[in-house]
Amino acid sequence: MEALEKFKAAQKAGWAHFAPLQTFTTIPAGRLVEHAGIRSGMRVLDVACGTGVVAVTAARMGARVTGLDLTPELLEVARTNGRTAAVDIEWHEGDVEQLPFADGTFDAVLSQFGHMFAPRPEVAIAQMLRVLKPGGTIAFSTWPPELFIGRMFATVSKFLPAPPIPVSPPPLWGDPNVVRERLGTAVRDILFDRGRVDAPALSVQHYRDLTERTAGPVLKLVETLTASDPAKLAEFRESYDALTVQYFDRNSVRQDYLMTRATKI
Ligand SMILES: C[S@@+](CC[C@H](N)C(=O)[O-])C[C@H]1O[C@@H](n2cnc3c(N)ncnc32)[C@H](O)[C@@H]1O
Repeated sequence: MEALEKFKAAQKAGWAHFAPLQTFTTIPAGRLVEHAGIRSGMRVLDVACGTGVVAVTAARMGARVTGLDLTPELLEVARTNGRTAAVDIEWHEGDVEQLPFADGTFDAVLSQFGHMFAPRPEVAIAQMLRVLKPGGTIAFSTWPPELFIGRMFATVSKFLPAPPIPVSPPPLWGDPNVVRERLGTAVRDILFDRGRVDAPALSVQHYRDLTERTAGPVLKLVETLTASDPAKLAEFRESYDALTVQYFDRNSVRQDYLMTRATKI
């Protein structure tokens, strides 16, 4: 258990600087809320809400929204985002693997590029389904393993020391077959769709520089290697740029993702 807590503490520290990337996740948030069929009056949970891009979007449509995230620094930004949009949202610091809500509380449980980072997928999905009402909607956006962000995470994990606990690779949540298996018999009417983020960048190095300062797993890797192995860090940067260039075109980095929606039985 101690190793699990250590892992979560490292995750929390790693994600603390993510806020600038909300520029990239704002447009997909609109798509996820649409994909989930959110309507006024619904009770909605945004899991791993970060700066609250999904939560605020759903609240602007009249939903009664709760946002939960591991990282207090991001919740601070989320609170500001909610106030700026003049919407009332309940924010919680917490863990998707241990949701502090009663069974069947929500009409919809959403997560954008969020619950995929929980180390134990079966625990995270069981919790998300537990707090959802029968007949309610579960919907999430995730990065597929074979596309840019999934390949980027695979590159990062090649260079990082093994985590203190077994961790399921987050991009497995981007594989429809794995998603089907993990949702299992708890749901009906699974529907997949695809979305795409075009992240502006002046060069692949600009893109890397930004993610080294903001994206949890990359930031953590660079911190570790700067102290312990600068030659390996240079090698990582070379691999990262070689990957990014395959998706870089006219000052944007193409990032495709999977959207899932299903109804709880
Ligand atoms: C890539 S960010 C996405 C944030 C936001 N949903 C968005 O689309 O902008 C990943 C988020 O997952 C959160 N997170 C990671 N592990 C978590 C966990 N076990 N429980 C709750 N949140 C978690 C991080 O704190 C971070 O806010």
